[in-house]
Amino acid sequence: MKLLILLLSIAFVASQSPVYRREEWKIREKNAEILDNQFYEGIFQTRIDHFKPLNQNVTDFIYHVNANFFVHLGPLYIYIKDFRDNSTRFIEDSLLVDIAKDTRAALMTFDMRFFGVNRPTSDTSLENLELLTVEQTLADIATFVRFIREYVANYEYSRVILWGSGYGGSLAVWAKKRYPNLITAAYASSGAFVLSTYSFLPFDLLEYTLTPNLEDRDCRNRLQQAYQTLQDLIDEGNNELISSRFNLCEPLDTTDPHEIASLYELSVRALTNYVETYHSVGVRNFCLNMRAILADPLHSFARWIVHEYGDGSCFDHRFSALVDRHNDTEWGSYGTNTGQRQQYYLQCTQLGGFAVADRYTWIPQNVSLGHHLRKCNEIFGREFDEATLNSAVRTLHTEFEHSIEDTLYTNGNIDPSRFFGRLYEDKGISINIDYHSKSSDLGSLHLNDPYPLYEAKRQIDGLVREWSIFPTAESN
Ligand SMILES: *[C@@H]1O[C@H](CO)[C@@H](O)[C@H](O)[C@H]1NC(C)=O
Ligand SMILES: *[C@@H]1O[C@H](CO)[C@@H](O)[C@H](O)[C@H]1NC(C)=O
Ligand SMILES: *[C@@H]1O[C@H](CO)[C@@H](O)[C@H](O)[C@H]1NC(C)=O
Ligand SMILES: *[C@@H]1O[C@H](CO)[C@@H](O)[C@H](O)[C@H]1NC(C)=O
Repeated sequence: MKLLILLLSIAFVASQSPVYRREEWKIREKNAEILDNQFYEGIFQTRIDHFKPLNQNVTDFIYHVNANFFVHLGPLYIYIKDFRDNSTRFIEDSLLVDIAKDTRAALMTFDMRFFGVNRPTSDTSLENLELLTVEQTLADIATFVRFIREYVANYEYSRVILWGSGYGGSLAVWAKKRYPNLITAAYASSGAFVLSTYSFLPFDLLEYTLTPNLEDRDCRNRLQQAYQTLQDLIDEGNNELISSRFNLCEPLDTTDPHEIASLYELSVRALTNYVETYHSVGVRNFCLNMRAILADPLHSFARWIVHEYGDGSCFDHRFSALVDRHNDTEWGSYGTNTGQRQQYYLQCTQLGGFAVADRYTWIPQNVSLGHHLRKCNEIFGREFDEATLNSAVRTLHTEFEHSIEDTLYTNGNIDPSRFFGRLYEDKGISINIDYHSKSSDLGSLHLNDPYPLYEAKRQIDGLVREWSIFPTAESN
């Protein structure tokens, strides 16, 4: 799957990473100067199974810290990683790094259990993956916070602020809810909080994303026409034209609904990932490309995927290829390295959030919940039943739905996934950012940021500084 590999490399262009030393890091005196080489890799221990008293076995997890600014009594900023991110970039260069220079905070992060280097079991067999749940992950976060509070030796008063993007943002807020005494505040950038097994919204909201204003529906109309033509070609069984337009590695089997759903899903995902990365500039660029061959929107769309966005090599749309990439249980396989297998497991058992489409959505096609469940079934080699998944998703939702103080939620107004986010808040604060998609607010504040983004970052900056203030004698 060349296409998705390319998507990953676009989303995570690695900047030069500093060297993380495997040594103890030092807590420096108040007023110590700011340094630029205090990057450390450390180890903390966490229980393999937090919820079985008879199993007290622990495993070593690696964490990373940027202690360039940190001095005694400084706050602790912990970045909770999203799916598909095993990097340390947000503790090196981000809005919170800039804030940490003034507040003298330490910045830390680690890979969540089963992701990146933190692998509590010998492989990712279905049996071992039973240890991959939201609750176990939150308990690891709590273990890490206790560990780090002890490490900096001002256990009671440390200000601990969690932040994260996407799934990491959800975990940050959930951890604050579950462990209020350990965590001072949480900031979720494009986190998912309105959980459901499946939703039509991600596909439907693309319509809004592609409609910059009510008068200009050209781009939206062209994409709709493209998918209409695709549907017609499928109905006619014209697999040759489809295969050549999309440069498919294998011809499309127009009689197999899973093959069709898979082509549809991957092509829409290419567009949503692009918008996630490039925001309104990406939309503008895509819309220009949709006019490349004026008389033939499908041709324009396929051309964008193959040449402008993909790397020009053939597009492997096959359902079996997708299963094949994710059903290997060994560490080091494509699915386990990218964390996609683990992400599917969480979606298939607890998180849901599957994007579905049918003939009544604005771009006509079929991607049903049945298709997603079949994917779960084939990847993990067992049946996943809809009623059980519904109940698991509902339990998680109910557990964490209540609003709490000292939380911040940001969402992008052109993010097709924003309706899973918390767009309105009673007790915390929510900020919805125009012209931006997922997590545009994580980076440093720049004078040339578009106005809505600049304002959002200023507000975030103010809140994080407020949360970081060490409690004074009177307030205790
Ligand atoms: C804990 O680890 C030991 C040594 O690896 C192992 O023999 C034992 O079965 C484990 N206990 C449980 C309850 O998994
Ligand atoms: C899409 O769904 C409709 C009804 O739900 C069905 O009639 C049609 O055959 C499906 N098309 C494909 C390609 O699966
Ligand atoms: C993985 O999927 C491929 C393609 O569907 C299949 O041939 C293979 O047997 C599967 N492997 C396992 C371990 O299930
Ligand atoms: C992240 O994962 C990729 C793919 O497995 C790997 O090549 C890379 O070295 C990892 N990066 C870090 C910082 O662990």
